[in-house]
Amino acid sequence: MRLSKLTRRQAITVSSAGLAGAMLGFPFRSFGINSRRQLKKLALNGGEKVRSASWPQWPYWDQTAEPGILDMFRSGRWWRGSGEYVAEFEKKYAELMGARRCLATASGTTALMTALHVLGVDAGDEVLVSPYTFIATYNVIFESKALPVFVDSDPETFLIDPKKIEAKITERTVAVVPVHIYGLPADMDGVNNAAKAHGLKVIEDACQAWLAEYRGKRVGSLGDLGCFSFQNSKHLASGEGGAILGNDEDIMDRCNAYHNCGRPYGRMKRLQGNPYNGMNFRMQQSQALILISQMKRIEKDNDIRLSNALYLDKKLKEIPGIVPYRLAEGATRAVYHMYPFRFISEEFGNISRDKFIKALNAEGIPCNSGYGRQNMDGLIEEQLNSKGFKRLFPESRLKRWRDENQLPGNDKLCDQAVTFYQSMLLGSKSDMDDIANAILKIYENRNSLV
Ligand SMILES: Cc1ncc(COP(=O)(O)O)c(C=O)c1O
Repeated sequence: MRLSKLTRRQAITVSSAGLAGAMLGFPFRSFGINSRRQLKKLALNGGEKVRSASWPQWPYWDQTAEPGILDMFRSGRWWRGSGEYVAEFEKKYAELMGARRCLATASGTTALMTALHVLGVDAGDEVLVSPYTFIATYNVIFESKALPVFVDSDPETFLIDPKKIEAKITERTVAVVPVHIYGLPADMDGVNNAAKAHGLKVIEDACQAWLAEYRGKRVGSLGDLGCFSFQNSKHLASGEGGAILGNDEDIMDRCNAYHNCGRPYGRMKRLQGNPYNGMNFRMQQSQALILISQMKRIEKDNDIRLSNALYLDKKLKEIPGIVPYRLAEGATRAVYHMYPFRFISEEFGNISRDKFIKALNAEGIPCNSGYGRQNMDGLIEEQLNSKGFKRLFPESRLKRWRDENQLPGNDKLCDQAVTFYQSMLLGSKSDMDDIANAILKIYENRNSLV
């Protein structure tokens, strides 16, 4: 009998009582494990590791892009003002993502800063934001001298819980930044409905979600603006790089102007002097050329990741105490910048998550513990105590912010999450078997770790 045919309770009973051979035949064959000997002694305790082979490396380099990149460098046309490649990338990326316009930027951080500025986030405003994210998502809000207000996560989806948005809105709230973390699409109907009811702008942080889909549409094109990152670890990588997607021509013109030192763009009025504020957040030609070459593989890579993730979902769900992410309402395709699950220590004989991660690493399976409690980051108090913030926000508001900065769903997630790197999902089904087998081996030997 396959383990997948057992209920969770039966699986616990069978595996812990060791009666499998006698009662049901060996139950772990669906995991590619043919004898209980393979589940003996953990590598952490001096046993043989499940896997000694290496994992797929990231990023991949496309040698066919080399002549074009060399020609561009030899031509001296390195910046977007004297070359065509940044504009070519923007056109291709907008088409790929199903958005009317794309603006390439120097990074995901500068994409977010541009989006916040153009959508009117200003000093003294409040911006709602997902707490389970990379530091840049809320750092850019502080950079606008606005107050990031964290909305609790749903620990099952790893994403913003739209039901908790309303309670966090004040008369100063102007925008909401949902994050499609790990390439898992957030519940955008929930976010957009709450935003619409209160006149808030929606800026999607899709920095980890290239080609992820919500109700069949690509994320990053579902709010007012969507921001992406092409930093080295990303599925579409160019060392550094970013992009903004949008469907509103005037807003995108203003994004272009802001990222280019305020130079008016498109339909913007050409006035005397320099009437528009702006930064230099431009992408370089070399970044764009790398992206154009990397774009050729992203759809195929994402298909492989998806197929392996669905295979892993099925296997890991069979192991007590391992709870893979659940897709949010309306999400139709995830892209897995990480493959996340929650580790329930109580079902693993109360061993700590750190011990579990060490044991899994020792079996030859790299993994880590995801994001920490970012809403408690040191930089937050630094900002709240700054001269500028004290001028912009009354003491009573900052006190209430501290009092209400309680995120039980997110705390649970931060305590339980475990993640695999995206490049591991580019391996074969037998690589996925190694992951599941190693976790099962730890489960079987959990008492040896206590
Ligand atoms: C969720 C998220 N937001 C924002 C960023 C910032 O992007 P960048 O590193 O390109 O500035 C990243 C990058 O890792 C990210 O993962």
